[in-house]
Amino acid sequence: MSRLLLSQVRRLLVPQIGLLAQESYLGPMTSVPSRCSSFSWATLVGPEAHVAGCWCEAKGGDRFEVLDPGWGRTLGSVANCGSPEAEAAVLGAHEAFQTWSKTTAKERGRVLQRWYSLMMENEDVLAELITAESGKPLFESRAEVAYAAGFLQWFAEEGRRAYGHVIPASRSDCLMFAVPQPLGVAALITPWNFPAAMITRKAGAALAAGCTVVIKPAEDTPFTALALARLAEAAGLPSGVMSVLPCSRSNAPSMGVLLCRHPLVRKISFTGSTATGKELLRLAAQGVKRVSMELGGLAPFIVFDSADVGAAVKGAIASKFRFSGQTCVCSQRFLIHRRVQEDFLSSLSKAVADFRVGRGSEPETTMGPLINSHALEKVERHVKDALEHGANVVCGGKRHSLGGSFYHPTVLADVTPTMACATEEIFGPLAAVITFDTEEEVLAIANSSPFGLAAYVYSRDLAQVVRIVQGLDVGMVGVNEAAISTVEAPFGGVKESGLGREGSFHGLHEYMNIKYVCYGGLQN
Ligand code: SIN
Repeated sequence: MSRLLLSQVRRLLVPQIGLLAQESYLGPMTSVPSRCSSFSWATLVGPEAHVAGCWCEAKGGDRFEVLDPGWGRTLGSVANCGSPEAEAAVLGAHEAFQTWSKTTAKERGRVLQRWYSLMMENEDVLAELITAESGKPLFESRAEVAYAAGFLQWFAEEGRRAYGHVIPASRSDCLMFAVPQPLGVAALITPWNFPAAMITRKAGAALAAGCTVVIKPAEDTPFTALALARLAEAAGLPSGVMSVLPCSRSNAPSMGVLLCRHPLVRKISFTGSTATGKELLRLAAQGVKRVSMELGGLAPFIVFDSADVGAAVKGAIASKFRFSGQTCVCSQRFLIHRRVQEDFLSSLSKAVADFRVGRGSEPETTMGPLINSHALEKVERHVKDALEHGANVVCGGKRHSLGGSFYHPTVLADVTPTMACATEEIFGPLAAVITFDTEEEVLAIANSSPFGLAAYVYSRDLAQVVRIVQGLDVGMVGVNEAAISTVEAPFGGVKESGLGREGSFHGLHEYMNIKYVCYGGLQN
């Protein structure tokens, strides 16, 4: 991490940490495992992991390097956690659960609310950190901070509405009711594309429900995760309730195995690729653990001939090129009705020409680099495959002169549903345009994928919209709208796009079991 960024992070966060000197209103919660060394308050975005309430190095001082996404230069190094730290974190979380789960939803909500406020007070520095690690433009990082903090605020409030229900009893001498209870320790495995929001979307729900959490952030973005842990601690989150275990790509599989197999972990929540999700599901099945999987997508973006093409192009820009196309709800297969195809393509290529590609930290940048060279090579492979099979470049289609992992925003026409860019997740700034003629045909193409996360439909024919929305095999649909993600709405997919929902009131119940109580012996 650059010296400048580090000093900014420290300067802005240090005053908040003073809060920790005051005793938490919840009182001391857990003891700290003796294997952890004490942490330094002076170091806010430092190399230490946060393990069961301790800021500590990994065993043997092992560290890994965090790289700048543009050119792969080293930003800094961080503790490379492994099994010893994971074991300590799970034990700490289990111990902390005994107390945290017994606090009231209102008390937990107050901590989450303070964490929310601290995030918003430190919006700029968090945004800089997200940009440094992920490469996304600053305006997108700022939006992410607000989105991320919003989950804390939402679940702070929603936790107080985790109602059970009274059951009309089947016998007159019994009272029957069902109460939701927190699951226990939840392991949260989070991605690099939303280094803050995917943590708060999971942790906000888990903590509000009364669970404790062990977080394994992506190896590309550990500093944002650790900064969030500093702020959570400053907000009064008791020791051990939340651990953050950065670990390298090579340590990640064994960390995943430990977390999925550990008998004290009762929930696995993962956001990332379908391939990894399937492996985690297999591991979690052995202990019959609750799981939430937010996996890949191949979102169809359908534009009918009755659509407002201008609005569709605006939506296409927002949903395809957000974070250089690296979100799982990014539209991927542009299914455009033959009658509006020419209009759509020419307006889209004009809008794409307005992108300013550059480093995320430069204020004029509207599209940053891809996360690394592998991501860039994947986009190149998709473009090459499409051109070999008859597609044509409308704009872009090549690396950017900035070098590194910068790529031109690209539009391809004459794509067919069987090309690699229409069947594999691209995760890059490539819009693949396929032409269709009928509703039946477009639904068949849209549903031909094993994924079913999001879909977008542009049409002004109301009956047609209803038919298409009902026919799409996906978890989320934007109708004449591409910005669908919000804390209040259920986020998640069907088929191989995942299990469970995040955000909304559904997100909270992913961290709770229902206990049915039959209270007998009430006869006089
Ligand atoms: C994701 O890409 O995993 C999340 C996107 C969102 O929350 O909008």
